[in-house]
Amino acid sequence: MMAIDLFPIIKPFLHRMDAEKAHNFTIQCLKMGFSSLLGPRYNPEILKTTVFGLHFPNPVGIAAGFDKNADVIPAVHKLGFGFAEAGTVTPLPQEGNPTPRLFRLTSDKAVINRFGFNNKGLDYFIHQLTAQKPGNKPFGANVGANKSSDDKTADYVKGINRLYGLSDYFTVNISSPNTPGLRSLQSKEALEDLISRVQEARRAKIAESYPYVPILVKIAPDLTKSDIADITEIALKKQLDGLIVSNTTITRPTNLQHKSKDQAGGLSGSPLMEMSTEVLAKIYKVTEGKIPLIGVGGISSGADAYKKIRAGASLVQLYSALVYEGPGLVERIKRDLVALLEKDRFSSVADAVGADHK
Ligand SMILES: Cc1cc2nc3c(=O)[nH]c(=O)nc-3n(C[C@H](O)[C@H](O)[C@H](O)COP(=O)(O)O)c2cc1C
Repeated sequence: MMAIDLFPIIKPFLHRMDAEKAHNFTIQCLKMGFSSLLGPRYNPEILKTTVFGLHFPNPVGIAAGFDKNADVIPAVHKLGFGFAEAGTVTPLPQEGNPTPRLFRLTSDKAVINRFGFNNKGLDYFIHQLTAQKPGNKPFGANVGANKSSDDKTADYVKGINRLYGLSDYFTVNISSPNTPGLRSLQSKEALEDLISRVQEARRAKIAESYPYVPILVKIAPDLTKSDIADITEIALKKQLDGLIVSNTTITRPTNLQHKSKDQAGGLSGSPLMEMSTEVLAKIYKVTEGKIPLIGVGGISSGADAYKKIRAGASLVQLYSALVYEGPGLVERIKRDLVALLEKDRFSSVADAVGADHK
């Protein structure tokens, strides 16, 4: 039975609120158990998939930034997502940039944020993870570096060391545009050093009898051909478990309409769809599909999710479209995705990964 979608009724109220306040209100609603009221979620056999050794009931996840402090992971799972990524968490708590720092570009179905990793830090994140009943769907911890940190790479190592055993996978986020200097970690030498150090931290944990936990790197969509060549070379050399493509863009497509379009920060939502899918497709091609990819950026329909999968994504994530479509979108995406897979006679989502290149 499909639950009634109340979002169209609540949306005008939410959108009259300041965007960050509306977000905090949403997190509060989830904390209060709103998603427990929803019925069983749709997870047909065709959507089940196994990627980097983890089993996913469906390939649609919530992207990082929605649940920065790991407050509502089981609640997000109950919305129908196949996996949840929380963070970005930095070792120490930090305030982030001054408000306002989140803008809805309603006419463009887009969002601009310049939060700057506002979060409550690793102690709080770990407390939340241990307090919540772990579900049976994968959970990823997205780790970052404090703004004031001199050795940013050491912050990622700290995050992984402290969260090891509490997360099914890790995302090393080096692509937020709102922490000065962070994106330079995507350059060849810095990236190789960073991946070596986080993988060394994992080796040490495995030597202490912890299991192997996949480590992924999340990259920006604003990369040149030579950036992509460098990143894929290092990813292949270091046998990286996966890449997440992509974070928000610092570019501003010329067709943006909304008056907030020139706000500083990262742009996400519909205008990011094509750009991030192009980068995803290029990476899939260069790596010959050898590295699992998570496609994120501008997904607002089953057709968008399917495009990313055909371009090379084994899994997808979304965030901004929830602002405009509400949580019912997750079920709609899955149903439309199943129809598209069946139309093209794929027997599983895994069979469609990279289909555009074959
Ligand atoms: C308000 C907001 C906050 C975000 N915060 C983070 C973050 O802390 N860490 C991160 O890796 N990505 C963050 N992102 C980026 C998203 O995870 C995602 O990569 C991007 O928004 C593109 O997907 P979308 O178009 O579906 O939103 C944030 C995005 C938004 C809109």
